[in-house]
Amino acid sequence: MNAQPRRVEHLQTDKGSVPVYTTAVIEQPWSSYSREDHATWADLFERQQKILVGRAASEFIENQQRFGMTPDAIPRFDDLNRVLKKATGWELIGVEGLLPELTFFEHLANRRFPVTWWIRRPDQIDYISEPDLFHDLFGHVPLLLNPAFADYMQAYGCGGVKAHGIGADALVNLTRLYWYTVEFGLIKQDDGLRIYGSGIVSSKGESIHCLESPAPNRLGFDLTRIMRTRYRIDTYQKTYFVIDSYRQLMDATAPDFTPIYAQLAQQDSIPAGNVLQGDFVYNRGTGEGWLNDGDI
Ligand code: PHE
Ligand code: CO
Repeated sequence: MNAQPRRVEHLQTDKGSVPVYTTAVIEQPWSSYSREDHATWADLFERQQKILVGRAASEFIENQQRFGMTPDAIPRFDDLNRVLKKATGWELIGVEGLLPELTFFEHLANRRFPVTWWIRRPDQIDYISEPDLFHDLFGHVPLLLNPAFADYMQAYGCGGVKAHGIGADALVNLTRLYWYTVEFGLIKQDDGLRIYGSGIVSSKGESIHCLESPAPNRLGFDLTRIMRTRYRIDTYQKTYFVIDSYRQLMDATAPDFTPIYAQLAQQDSIPAGNVLQGDFVYNRGTGEGWLNDGDI
């Protein structure tokens, strides 16, 4: 039996009304996972591992192997933490599910990554509207072993605490940055475009769509462009943003965002699917790109 997570309230955010669970940090109840839970992990793990060959960033695949995650059983947070703490000082903590924004930011700012302890039901294998253990562990945890990405995640948490004090509009801008990097980011490798965003790597359909479908735009990373760009939570993305390196994330986000938020407050948001003059547009096949000098 899956223990049921406890929903306590709903919160109105940029993503619509989302369930918010208790904020408590909980010990992973590992022995309570059912045989069905472990089988769900195994099915998802094996399926994504196959899909991600030649699609996920090489860092993602290598780091996942360093953790020694296998399809055999749901990993124990304690085992992963031994590897993680030594490498980058991050620690996984168990939670019931989505957290209020400030609580989430404070965890990241202290190098604690909240992982939902429960896994989806078998009928939710292909789609679940909220993060579960598979998304959090399989999707987010591997890159926390990368020093530049690990620093970026902490900086994001600090930036979140700050944006929370500035106001709702600043939070909308910052949340879009998380969405288009941590959740749905692509990276340009020597051998072409690859996935590093956890929302993609934990989804079979989107792993294929983001690289192979002619429909979505693949645009070069641009901080303020991303902060202005709306996104959808209920369909595949219409636009993905491509970084050159994890270091680029750290460097581009180092400046104080306070004046940027003020300037963005004067500008309209950009619909999710638009391509604008000045966007750097990537070709999905070759991974080459060009500067768009007219509206498409
Ligand atoms: N430099 C940002 C700020 O001043 C902090 C930040 C870093 C935000 C990295 C996001 C990612 O708010
Ligand atoms: Co996520």
